[in-house]
Amino acid sequence: MDGTFNIGGLDAPFYLPQADECDIFAAAFAKNLPLLLKGPTGCGKTRFVAHMAARLGRPLYTVACHDDLSAADLIGRYLLKGGETVWVDGPLTRAVREGAICYLDEVVEARKDVAVVLHPLTDDRRILPIDRTGEELQAAPGFMLVASYNPGYQNIMKTLKPSTRQRFLSVEFTFPKPEHEIPVVVRESGLDGDRVSLLVRLANKLRGLKGQDLEEGVSTRLVVYAATLIAGGMSMDRAIRAAMIEPLTDDADIRAGLMDLVVAVMG
Ligand SMILES: Nc1ncnc2c1ncn2[C@@H]1O[C@H](COP(=O)(O)OP(=O)(O)OP(=O)(O)O)[C@@H](O)[C@H]1O
Ligand SMILES: [Mg+2]
Repeated sequence: MDGTFNIGGLDAPFYLPQADECDIFAAAFAKNLPLLLKGPTGCGKTRFVAHMAARLGRPLYTVACHDDLSAADLIGRYLLKGGETVWVDGPLTRAVREGAICYLDEVVEARKDVAVVLHPLTDDRRILPIDRTGEELQAAPGFMLVASYNPGYQNIMKTLKPSTRQRFLSVEFTFPKPEHEIPVVVRESGLDGDRVSLLVRLANKLRGLKGQDLEEGVSTRLVVYAATLIAGGMSMDRAIRAAMIEPLTDDADIRAGLMDLVVAVMG
């Protein structure tokens, strides 16, 4: 693809790359390949897609998938409007027509018929058949499908079938290294680097407990929340409890144990 899409970028949402994910995204976009983002909650996937869409100058349609989401929700349906039945495109169809980026967040949650729709779109045909209208849309230049999922939930019922997964390039997101996370949290919260460093150190200690007592580690999102509360005047102790401890578990005993760890790390 030529450079005509390279018109955005000046006011793209802030995103600090962890590795070569921006290059992979740009290469996938240029070569019409779909991209799958794997990784835990709150590690920057949504921000990354928003950033890249802006940099590439493409509109972005984001769909939060849930277990009731069907192919019709993506493609569109006939609706009654003022006594008339009119066809209304769903977000995927709009993206296909406009050459936009369509981001399916937590795609494993969606119903099975969604995978059927994605298959002809994610191979070199790049077509979207719309049974209800009889149309067969060829994706406009600039259309890109991006999906995300969190393999960490270990829900064996909800994993992508190889036939779906192997249609996507994949990038794995992990919790960022401190040298990446500290500037992100400083930038997002406005809190000073010294206190942010402490929070990030604590976050990494808590992440070390994943699998034993905790299902998921503290996300960057939660560290940003804590730092934002502290920058707004809340004490470290209260902010950490509300943003980095309470959201992790409903088990009071585990929470008490985590607070001991907080005291040990923060002094
Ligand atoms: N590399 C990064 N650059 C800039 N901000 C980041 C980065 N990583 C995380 N963040 C911050 O973390 C917050 C959460 O990130 P985001 O919403 O993109 O997570 P996510 O991976 O999409 O999570 P979920 O799986 O829950 O949807 C962002 O709002 C942003 O403040
Ligand atoms: Mg997200």
